[in-house]
Amino acid sequence: MKFFIDSADIQEIKKAVSMGFCDGVTTNPSLVARTGRPFKDVIRDLMEIVPGPVSLEAVSENADGMVEEARGFVGDYPDHRDKIFVKIPMTPEGMVAVRRCADEGINTNVTLVFTATQALLAAKAGASYVSPFIGRLDDISTGGMQIIEDIVRIYDNYDYDTEIIVASIRHPMHVLESALIGADIATIPFSVVLKLFNHPLTDKGIAKFLEDNSKIPE
Ligand code: E4P
Repeated sequence: MKFFIDSADIQEIKKAVSMGFCDGVTTNPSLVARTGRPFKDVIRDLMEIVPGPVSLEAVSENADGMVEEARGFVGDYPDHRDKIFVKIPMTPEGMVAVRRCADEGINTNVTLVFTATQALLAAKAGASYVSPFIGRLDDISTGGMQIIEDIVRIYDNYDYDTEIIVASIRHPMHVLESALIGADIATIPFSVVLKLFNHPLTDKGIAKFLEDNSKIPE
């Protein structure tokens, strides 16, 4: 399973890259706003440091505007065209934009997906990625992970090429379940990546080895 880092924070993305845990990055307007930096500056840094796909969100509400934004992203970085994925919301206008982007060879990531049937629409429109938000479903007492299983099955049934990004991940169990189900990608906040390291027996084992190492005669 590929790990994308769900962040616009360049420092934490650099750390994830240095650990080999950053196969790509997803951003959204909330994550970019949190950095306090202009979007264009964030994009410039992401193009330089991320070794794989970078998702950038279009914020227009109609298809023409979304396609213009998509063309703008790839036009600004023609050498990185293949790694730019334009995030487009799951709306009727959004699916018109996805279809047009697909026809123009612009990669898309359909965002704000909350049902398996929405994911079916995204695949039929020609989306490169689909991003079901499982944490936000869990937040309203609806099993988020169940829709991942359903989407995997639907895409397998019909051989869709659209890849599934498990999004809105909140904790390590979401990562484990995504991998067990066989999702293509999990986009993970860096704080959750760090939690994946945690085990008291690892800490205890290191302390014991260090203690015993100090007893070895020179
Ligand atoms: C994914 O592409 C989204 O940016 C993200 O996963 C949303 O997560 P949230 O529900 O924690 O805001």
